[in-house]
Order: sequence, then structure tokens, then C-alpha cells
Amino acid sequence: MKHLFLILLTFLLACGGSQTTEEKTQTQTSMQTQGDVHSFAQPENAQMTDLGLDIKVDFDKKIIVGKASITFENKKSAKQLFLDTKELTIKRVTLGKPEKETKFQLSKEQAYKGSALAIDIEADTKLVNIYYETSPTAGALQWLSPAQTAGKQKPFLFTQSQAILARTWVPCQDSPGIRFTYSAKVEVPKDLLAVMSAENPIKLDKSGIYEFKMPQPIPAYLLALAVGEIDFVPLSENTGVYAEPALLRKSADEFVDLPKMLAAAEKLYGKYAWGRYDVIVLPPSFPFGGMENPRLTFATPTIIAGDRSLVSLIAHELAHSWSGNLVTNATWNDFWLNEGFTVYFERRIMEAVQGKSYADMLALLGYQDLQETLADLKEKPEDTQLKLNLAGRDPDEGVSDIAYEKGFFLLRMIEEAIGREKMDNFLKKYFTENAFKVMDTERFLTYLQKELPETDKLNLKEWIYQTGLPQNCPVPKSERFDHVGSASGCYIKTMQKDCLDAQWNSHEWLYFLRLLARSVNSAYLEDLDKNFHFTDSGNSEILAQWFQLAIQSDYDKAYPAMEKFLTSVGRRKFLVPIYAALLKNPKTKALAKEIYTQARPNYHFVAVNTLDEMMKK
Ligand code: BES
Ligand code: ZN
Repeated sequence: MKHLFLILLTFLLACGGSQTTEEKTQTQTSMQTQGDVHSFAQPENAQMTDLGLDIKVDFDKKIIVGKASITFENKKSAKQLFLDTKELTIKRVTLGKPEKETKFQLSKEQAYKGSALAIDIEADTKLVNIYYETSPTAGALQWLSPAQTAGKQKPFLFTQSQAILARTWVPCQDSPGIRFTYSAKVEVPKDLLAVMSAENPIKLDKSGIYEFKMPQPIPAYLLALAVGEIDFVPLSENTGVYAEPALLRKSADEFVDLPKMLAAAEKLYGKYAWGRYDVIVLPPSFPFGGMENPRLTFATPTIIAGDRSLVSLIAHELAHSWSGNLVTNATWNDFWLNEGFTVYFERRIMEAVQGKSYADMLALLGYQDLQETLADLKEKPEDTQLKLNLAGRDPDEGVSDIAYEKGFFLLRMIEEAIGREKMDNFLKKYFTENAFKVMDTERFLTYLQKELPETDKLNLKEWIYQTGLPQNCPVPKSERFDHVGSASGCYIKTMQKDCLDAQWNSHEWLYFLRLLARSVNSAYLEDLDKNFHFTDSGNSEILAQWFQLAIQSDYDKAYPAMEKFLTSVGRRKFLVPIYAALLKNPKTKALAKEIYTQARPNYHFVAVNTLDEMMKK
């Protein structure tokens, strides 16, 4: 018996003692990661300060291959440097220059977080070089066939790093609280142009090799690359547009007001800090409306409506040059600091450029979105707090209109309480004093309290830490929408097209369609289509709203156009409500699955991730 006990004891000890390096790495990281639960980095020990990329883009294999050289500060003489990776093949790692081989371990892959790369370093190591390649399924990368582009001749690649996908194409400390400068040498097929969130070329180089520099420190989620048949046209001395040749003229025309927006933004909250501001219009499978990659906003072509009606999205991404890119949310739990401030700033820019009645419409549409999101989150009330708790969850789950619109209305409420002048002085100071710094919700509250003690009475804690919408939320008003309201009442009663105004802009039509949703049937839709041709609209916002209405009213004449939309556009914000409507109506549930099966291969990972879940239900 005693013998058996000893054997057992030896066995147990041996197991514990031979804990694999992977397991050790995991226990170490989980114990020491205090700040950001979505990163394996241990910046309190060793923190990266610069990235040097030397990579080749291989369209045949759908991979990026090369070397990432990471300069870091070893704050506590740590023996290892920890980086985030996901689905990367790490071939070898060296120290310094000249390079010297070193050991490394990759921890077991975890869902959405990926694997910690622990690199053995020496007391005086300042630089590590990682030789790696990406996987063809890398979440950040979307490889498009020529058929998925406007030109139909050349392939295209773009990245989407936010929230935690940078680690699928670059080994790095992938946490919004960690900033670094970067430079890159990128080799691409000779007939394609490469652009990044950095200083960019404006024309093809015969060598197929492009060099980039981002001298201001940025967090990893703002690393970005696009490669394709891309041309450039300037809009002003320091702004311009990149797009496929077939889209370039239309895009430049759509964004003519960009220099005005930039001037309005600077006048409000201080000088633009990033040098140039350009926009690249991507192919339609881009999963977002826009992404605020510094110096080069990535945008969906679905905002090219032909009448400049959807350009507030550009104001939004431009505004991130202050809220988000200059003053950055410390972790994804503080995401509202990025997006809520940006929506507020976006609407201020639009007010400056288009007038108050225009900004009022945007605010009211936002209020409707917020109400809808609050209703959708009935079962998950904790996700209606501004400060989120995303521990154990993919940060992508925290992306909802709460951060955007509840965040906006909090700032709007403060503005209404203290007056616009004080608000603007406060925000200008906030962006200036915290430029290139990290901000979390608590530090923001302390800062606000110090600068504007009178905000103490405004229920801020309830707004931030409690669910739902506090009593003191302002209710936006819009005179132009009041007219739409009466007109729609008239139309619902009489079905007379004279009730409506053909001169309405797209926001007014959108508001009209939202009002109809409560009370019409397919006869109305048929009549509207005959008079106003919604099914053939070139405006993606209107189409998306129209298709939801059509599905809800069994108006199947719109279905072929809807199917075309769903198979060509990859913007998640449109896909989710349209598929949700299709799944909800028993008559179209099978159609939803059919279209999805066909369209899925053309969607980006982040859209697929969300839609797969919806289809399971
Ligand atoms: N930064 C976001 C996009 C994002 C958020 C990507 C979270 C990944 C995770 C961008 O600035 C944004 O908000 N885009 C909106 C535009 C809008 C609200 C005008 C979009 O894509 O719809
Ligand atoms: Zn945003």
C-alpha cells in the first residue's frame, strides 16, 4: 500500500514538474496580465516601442511571409518578451543586429485570443527578429479574386486589424494601450500598388517594392495594408482619394467636401496630428463602413451614393484622428471612449459643414438606432453599460450602438448642461493634453471632474456603470423629420404620392421608411416602388432599410435585388439586419440560408463570424 502511495506521489510530482513550457507560459501570462484581458503581452515587464516589417505578399498562396523586427523596452530585466500571435507560423527568432538565434515557445491556441509567443531574451536585448508567415485563413486578411473587384482584372488584399486581428498578420503586442512607431518594406506583384496606415506612395513602382514609415506611435489595431490595382487623385494639398481606377472619379466627386471637413475638425478640437489625410475606397466586401487607419481611412464603396449623402461616415473616420487615434481607449472595455466621442465629433463636423438641421437628422436617426439596440439587448442588459466587461469574450461582441449612440448622448447631455463653449474648450484641452496617450473610463471621469466639477450632478456614474438609458438623456428633435412625419401620416392614410416630397434627401427617405415599417403592407411597397423606385435605389442605406421592409411585408418583387445586394456587399451593418429579417419571417428562412451559402465565401472573417452564429439559431 505504502509502495503504491509512493509510486502515485512520484507520478504526480513528475507530472507537475514536467509541465510543458506551453502550460507554464499560460499560467504566467494569465497571472500577470492585469490591464488588457485580450492580450498576452506583459507591457509592465517588457513593452514594444517600434516595429520594422519586411514582408512579401503572396497572392498565389494567400499568405504574407517575412520578418517582424521588434524594438522594446525591458523595464524589469525580464527574461522573456511576450507577443500576441494567432494562426502564425513562427519559423525562427533572433536577437539584435547582427542577429543571434534564440529560443521561443508558442502557447496552445485559445479561441479568438490566439497564442502567446514567449521569446527568450538577454539582459541587454533591445531588438528581436521574428521570421514568420501568416495562414491563408488569417482573420485580418481578405484576399479577393479579380471577380470581387471593380476592375475584374487583378486580385486585391486588404487588412482589418481592429479589434484584435493585427496578431493574425503581424506578431506584436496587440493591445490598444501599447503604442509603437513602425516602418515597413512590402513586396507585392509588380502590377499592384501597396498602401498602409503610413506615408504612402501615389503611383506604381516598377520594382513592386514599397517602403513605409509611420513616425507617430500607434496601437496595433491601427496597422493596415491594402494591395491592388489602386490609383490616387488629390482633393487638396493634404487630402486625397485612393481607389480602383473604375471608382476613382466617382469617389473623388463624392468626397469633395473632405478638405472642408478637415478644416472644421481642426477649428473645433485642434490641429490634425498625422500629416496627410487620405481615404481609400475598397471593394464591396469590406466588412465595415469605415476604419480609421491613421493617414489613410479605409472605406466601403457603399457610401458612394452619387449625391454625397453618406459622407458623414468620412467625418466619423476623420474624427477618430483625435478620438481614438490620438487619445486611445486603454482596453476594449473602454471602447465607448473611442466611438462615443467620435460620433459626437462626427456630428459636430457635419453641423459645421452642412448646418444644424442636417446634424439634427443624424442625431435622431442615431436615437432610433439606440432604442432598437436597447430592445435587442433585453436579454443581455449588462451589455448596455458604457463600461463593458468583456473578460472571457471576444471583444468584437462589445461592438454595438451602445458605445456609439449611448456614448454620443452622454456627451450631448453634458454639452446641453454646461453649454457649448465650455464643452468645446474642455474637449480641445482633453485631446491636446492626452494626445498619444491611453485613456480608460475611470481616468476620463477623474479628468472631467477636475476640469468641470459642475458635471458632478449629471448622473455620470449611472450612464457609465448602469444598464439602459438614464432619465436625463436628451431627446433629439428634427424639424425636417417632423415634416416627414406628417407626410408619412398622410401617405399611410391615403396612399397618395403627393403627400411625399421627391426632393427629400436620403436621410429623410430613411426616416420615412422607418416610420412605414410599423404599419404598411406590400400594396404600399408596390405603390412606392412604382413612384419612387426604391428597389433600384443606388443608396445603400435606403436599400438596406427597404429590403427589411420588403421582407417584413412579403413584398417579393424586391427579392432579386436583395439577393444581388447580399451577394455583392459584405458590410456587416447591412448584412445582419437583412439576414435577421429573412430568418424571422418563416416564408424566407430557407431563402436566407440559401443566399448565405452562396455568399459566404465572399464575406470577410468578421462578418462570417457574426452571421454563422445567427444562422445556427
Ligand atoms: N473603428 C470602427 C470600426 C470597428 C469597430 C472595427 C470595432 C472593428 C471593431 C469605425 O470607426 C466605425 O465606427 N465604423 C462604422 C462607421 C460609422 C459609425 C459611421 C461602420 O463601419 O459602420
Ligand atoms: Zn468609429
